[in-house]
Amino acid sequence: VIVGPEELEQCAERLRTGGLVAFPTETVYGLGANALDERAVARIFEAKGRPRFDPLIVHVARWDDAAPLVRDVPGEARRLAERFWPGPLTLLLPKTPLVPDLVTAGLGEVGVRVPDHPLARVLIERAGVPVAAPSANPFGRISPTTARHVADQLGDKVDAILDGGPCRVGVESTVVRCGPEGITVLRLGGVTIEELEATGERVRVTLQHAATPEAQAAPGNLLAHYAPRVPLRLWDAFGEMGRSADDVQVGWLAFRETPPSLRPGDVVEVLSATGDLREAAARVFAALRRLDEAGVARIEAERAPDVGLGRAINDRLVRAAAGGGR
Ligand code: TXA
Ligand code: MG
Repeated sequence: VIVGPEELEQCAERLRTGGLVAFPTETVYGLGANALDERAVARIFEAKGRPRFDPLIVHVARWDDAAPLVRDVPGEARRLAERFWPGPLTLLLPKTPLVPDLVTAGLGEVGVRVPDHPLARVLIERAGVPVAAPSANPFGRISPTTARHVADQLGDKVDAILDGGPCRVGVESTVVRCGPEGITVLRLGGVTIEELEATGERVRVTLQHAATPEAQAAPGNLLAHYAPRVPLRLWDAFGEMGRSADDVQVGWLAFRETPPSLRPGDVVEVLSATGDLREAAARVFAALRRLDEAGVARIEAERAPDVGLGRAINDRLVRAAAGGGR
């Protein structure tokens, strides 16, 4: 079910005719379907086991292709698109009736983005339709950054997985709403707060992590997400932590340095030996998966510095800690 770029035309055809195609983007692999075909979109929710209150991002190959989907585009949004597209930024914009309610979970706004991955853009262009795509993982689980990750979790539920190699950014897009009052960030991601602030706009972060769907101000973004099968504990730093007396094997997700109190059988993943946040973001989901599959009893994870992409990494780790072990 994993296919290479030579089958891109067939993948585009599948999308156009109501199929499900997983494809690479610069952030994570997406599980795509024709956004204008309600039946095809319903298949996404089914394949992921995703509740229908959680809306999908619509992917287009260029700004012009978003025009039929949205109305009243504020000047601020246009400027952000000019600055950050193609790239890991999703803009929430008032939708037109062309966008099925299923895509937006009945909300008046649709999330739109132009991915910065050559295969994704050509695929969408050839499909000739906007492509709705969540991350290609079962609901609540770790996001995929390789075609193999998708095959392992959703292989039997998709028509094809287009292999474009490992994702460059490694964390999902930043989701924002904007207007004259500035930029509101609803999900931290590949475009950093610092980069948004550099546009001169006022930036406000309202993460909607809520323990239950009923408690959240907006859909998606449940606290428990990105969940490994084994429990995960999050530490500010491993530095001076002791180790409890239990003699189980532990998986360590370290930011920069090998943790101090290793035992035989422990498994270690260091996100970036040089402390590079880009490298760490690109590696975090794959490292979490390896630890989850290593047969350890639990994962001890360490926070990244809380700046730039480190904020998005920490957001994912907080939520992995809330969801892990289920
Ligand atoms: O990088 C990404 O954004 C990846 C790639 C495939 O593009 N996609 C992705 O989709 O992460 P997903 O479905 O896993 O996460 C989308 C997030 C969810 O938290 C969802 O609630 C939010 O965006 N979202 C989408 N449309 C929305 C809307 N109309 N209003 C509020 N939140 C929305
Ligand atoms: Mg997701």
